[in-house]
Amino acid sequence: MSRSDGKIIAVIGSGLIGRSWAMVFVSGGYSVKIYDNQPGQSAKAITEIRKQLAELEEAHMLRGTLTASQQLALLSSYDDLAAALQGAFFIQECVFEQLEVKQSIFQDVERLVGPDVVLSSSTSCLVPSNVFSRVQNQSRCLVSHPVNPPYYVRLVELVPHPETAMTVMNATHALMTEVGQAPVLLKKEIDGFAVNRVQAAIIAESWRLVQDGFISVKDIDLVMSEGLGMRYAFIGPMETIHLNAPEGLEDYMRRYGEGFTRLLHSFGPVPDFCGAGAKSVAEEMYELIPNQEAQLEARRQRRDQLLRSLARLKKEQQ
Ligand SMILES: NC(=O)c1ccc[n+]([C@@H]2O[C@H](COP(=O)([O-])OP(=O)(O)OC[C@H]3O[C@@H](n4cnc5c(N)ncnc54)[C@H](O)[C@@H]3O)[C@@H](O)[C@H]2O)c1
Ligand SMILES: *[C@@H]1O[C@H](CO)[C@@H](O)[C@H](O)[C@H]1NC(C)=O
Ligand SMILES: *[C@@H]1O[C@H](CO)[C@@H](O)[C@H](O)[C@H]1NC(C)=O
Repeated sequence: MSRSDGKIIAVIGSGLIGRSWAMVFVSGGYSVKIYDNQPGQSAKAITEIRKQLAELEEAHMLRGTLTASQQLALLSSYDDLAAALQGAFFIQECVFEQLEVKQSIFQDVERLVGPDVVLSSSTSCLVPSNVFSRVQNQSRCLVSHPVNPPYYVRLVELVPHPETAMTVMNATHALMTEVGQAPVLLKKEIDGFAVNRVQAAIIAESWRLVQDGFISVKDIDLVMSEGLGMRYAFIGPMETIHLNAPEGLEDYMRRYGEGFTRLLHSFGPVPDFCGAGAKSVAEEMYELIPNQEAQLEARRQRRDQLLRSLARLKKEQQ
């Protein structure tokens, strides 16, 4: 008997991320009850998941030890919130990224669940102290921020509310690990968490180098995909610097720290992402990949195919 046997997780909101979470949790053997406030939407999500599970099984990419039909049997859909929450020990919220919508759904959820149920939000951009401001017992609340698509990109940022109990962080860390995700713990909340802060730094400097005429859109993308990204898929920036000097991290900073400081001081203000100057960056991108639905969709499929292959490779390395 595994830890997940008979245990129920409720997923609230059955869009892109809600469906992905449902697939991740059933792969770990949990029963998942999906709720959406658009009537019929959660049932539609299960139809979509059935298709995806069959394709994954066919491609030998299904996660977990259960078959696609066993995983499907763990899913159920609800148009009624109270019925969906019944029996759940963990709630993963995946509704629209609007503060008011999230605050109000958590207010409703808290009235309907017992005191030990964990309330977890998928929010990308809202901090826990705002999302959970209308919850009475904030010690059981946290953000579990996934990266899209969570089925192949395993990282989940766990971000505490100032009141969140350490036991709740630990239990969620254990749950995420058990279902095959790669959780990281933020010690306290900050706008953007870790992922979007690092991402913003990379995007801003890439944008600046293009906009200021130093490099093309095509070539800045190659800097990442053929250069830095090669090792970042396996080791992060801290290990990278630790390995890149004979005596490790402090030696690295003795050698290169002054250079980095000089570069960082030359970064300048936040680039203009939307004004007149942005037009030429966009046009250069559209020359490479037109902003037409068909072309964008083809590139998205290529991206997901490549991520699947990389996920397989990383699994073999474990
Ligand atoms: N899409 C991403 O790349 C991504 C990545 C990480 C985190 N997130 C976060 O996940 C959350 C969901 O994003 P998504 O891309 O799945 O959005 P989405 O628009 O695809 O899905 C949202 C779903 O929530 C439902 N919904 C809205 N209000 C509701 C309510 N009050 N009660 C129940 N259901 C409700 C909608 O009907 C819809 O089905 C957001 O907070 C988003 O920031 C998204
Ligand atoms: C608040 O939540 C914690 C963590 O889930 C729980 O242990 C505690 O019993 C709850 N307190 C109240 C008053 O409901
Ligand atoms: C949480 O986990 C950490 C690391 O595993 C451990 O040191 C700590 O005692 C745990 N705290 C609680 C309250 O469970």
